[in-house]
Amino acid sequence: MSRPTGSRDDPDTLTDRTSLSQEIESLRAELRQHNYRYYILDDPAIPDSEYDQLLRRLETLEQQLGEAVPDDSPTRLVGAPPGHTFAERKHGEALLSLANAFNEDEVEAFDRRIRDILGDVDFSYIVEPKIDGLAVNLRYENGTLSVAATRGDGRVGEDVTDNIRTIADIPWRLAQIDGVSLPEVLEVRGEVYMSKEAFAALNERQQEAGDKPFANPRNAAAGSLRQLDARVTRSRRLNFFAYGVGLGGENLSTGQLKLLHALYGLGFAIQQLEQATSVNQLFEHYRAWQEKRPELPYEIDGVVYKVDDFALQQRLGAVARSPRWAIAHKFPAEEVVTTVKHILWQVGRTGVITPVADMQPVAVGGVMVSRATLHNAEELARKQVYEGCRVLVRRAGDVIPEVLRAIDIEAGYSPPETPQACPVCGAAVFRLQDEVAIRCSGGLSCPAQLKERLRHFVSRGAMDIEGMGEKLIARLVDEGLLRSIAGIYELDYTQMLDWPGMGEKKVNNLYAALDASHRRTLARFLFALGVRHVGQATAASLAQHFGTLSALAEADAEALIAVPDIGPEVAASIRSFFSEAHNIEVLERLFAAGVMPLEVEQVASDHVLHGKTVVLTGSFEHIPRRVAQEKLRQLGARPVGSVSAKTDIAIAGEKAGSKLSKARELGIDVVDEAKLLEWLGLSDS
Ligand code: IVH
Repeated sequence: MSRPTGSRDDPDTLTDRTSLSQEIESLRAELRQHNYRYYILDDPAIPDSEYDQLLRRLETLEQQLGEAVPDDSPTRLVGAPPGHTFAERKHGEALLSLANAFNEDEVEAFDRRIRDILGDVDFSYIVEPKIDGLAVNLRYENGTLSVAATRGDGRVGEDVTDNIRTIADIPWRLAQIDGVSLPEVLEVRGEVYMSKEAFAALNERQQEAGDKPFANPRNAAAGSLRQLDARVTRSRRLNFFAYGVGLGGENLSTGQLKLLHALYGLGFAIQQLEQATSVNQLFEHYRAWQEKRPELPYEIDGVVYKVDDFALQQRLGAVARSPRWAIAHKFPAEEVVTTVKHILWQVGRTGVITPVADMQPVAVGGVMVSRATLHNAEELARKQVYEGCRVLVRRAGDVIPEVLRAIDIEAGYSPPETPQACPVCGAAVFRLQDEVAIRCSGGLSCPAQLKERLRHFVSRGAMDIEGMGEKLIARLVDEGLLRSIAGIYELDYTQMLDWPGMGEKKVNNLYAALDASHRRTLARFLFALGVRHVGQATAASLAQHFGTLSALAEADAEALIAVPDIGPEVAASIRSFFSEAHNIEVLERLFAAGVMPLEVEQVASDHVLHGKTVVLTGSFEHIPRRVAQEKLRQLGARPVGSVSAKTDIAIAGEKAGSKLSKARELGIDVVDEAKLLEWLGLSDS
């Protein structure tokens, strides 16, 4: 291959041309990311001038290379590629599903069949948790994500590429692995899921907004992926684990274990896995995972056993649409039967009136349950619940208990009547357009709403005013002494000295607690205000981003959406809060009483933790976990619930378990509590 050597501007040698092509490809990928952020998410990452520079550089290089420019190059396209959300996409290779085993006998039969077919061959199984989410197929062309589609019928799925791109666990470009040449087309399969934490936060927001909560993290993940607006998907915080490959996958590995390591090397998050060579070992792993299940940050509904070796998998083949080489061993559903004593109608902080089942106490998944929300009148009717009926109650992992449905349903069922007036204050109820929930129209004149608002304000994660308990709040509201959150700081508590449970000491302590609460962090203060859709995590992001209350109050929708985790709905709710005169009046009264949230100092970006993703695991002796998380956020770190390839640092306290082992396995830096305290500036030395 003797060609004349060319200069840098004259890409004549093969190496020059290769490096030129590589730079072009990486510029195209970079520009596509910027197009996506600009056109789809309305959240540009760089100023227009910088974007123009990148585009011009790409144009120059494409000219230098002198080859035909493909139609999908950012120099040819204006804006983002045409919207194709939910268009049908045929998978390169069909996605199979798994047969289920519900008991040990069925697993033994599975193992026996395999041994019968394979004869006298030594082989091992890989054990993986079965994630309760939804399968997607990711198509990479020349290492770049081109199409992401849902499983669909296994052969054809729906295009969800724009939404998939909001998931941080999914690389847009695959990393290079030494000694592995990527196939032109590679399909990566895995599960999109929602963590327990994100699920709880989402349902809290749904409930507050009077929208129907999601029954489980799987439905929530599916609903979030099928959004027309990718910004909404992004605000839902989805995750992804890779567990397999389709087209092009044979190039990566000869077995499942190595495959998962290769996928990890390409930039995907993978789960912890084990090897086993006998059914008894499979059962041991099954039991171990069953025990770990409640602590996992995401829902699993069983474990999957897979024959490791691909050649053996091939020999075993598939029956119908399930492979013979794999099976899902499901955990028993934690469902029990109990009786509904009453149906109560509860009025929440924002006036939403929710039916609640008051049940005969019963143990589900190791916890006594006697109350469960029935969400709204429609749900109540769908489940055919009435007072005195028997119901099936389920509790999955640490997810809130749920009434699945009534059993032995009577013919001619008619649902209990929904209240026409607020059960607490008697004000008329109303329904917002497009909402199923009914609401009390009493606003803060409704004692139930006011009490809930006050309880939230003083709660531990919010202003943390110890001594301001539920009973005291109830009496203060009932006696007409407390009419708004600002009133908390304006009351003369000495008039309560002779109230039951009060006394001098209590009143003094209460004053001390009120005093201390004058200077809470901005994040806590924002959370305490009870702005619709602003939970703890959102409040922390807002505080971090804006630094001061006035900056937040002045931010327009565009500026709000630029904050991670904030979608259009949340932005609108924040705008509406700060545009209401009575809210401003309450804020002014709070300030007048000396409440002054601590403004976030501009985080020094040279702090070692700045921009780092950290995981806290185990228990800490000197600092409560919630406090540590808040302080880490203030330093610009991102505390997350689970260890993945994206984790930078694991901070391990006492009795750290599976997260610590996983961090070690992944080679992530592990530090102890002393180091944490030092970083937070809290150590004695
Ligand atoms: S492997 C041929 N591994 O379970 C094997 N699936 O019931 C294909 N799932 O559609 C799937 N965790 O959505 C595999 N570790 C795991 C899994 C897993 C969850 C889901 C997946 C699949 C369904 C089959």
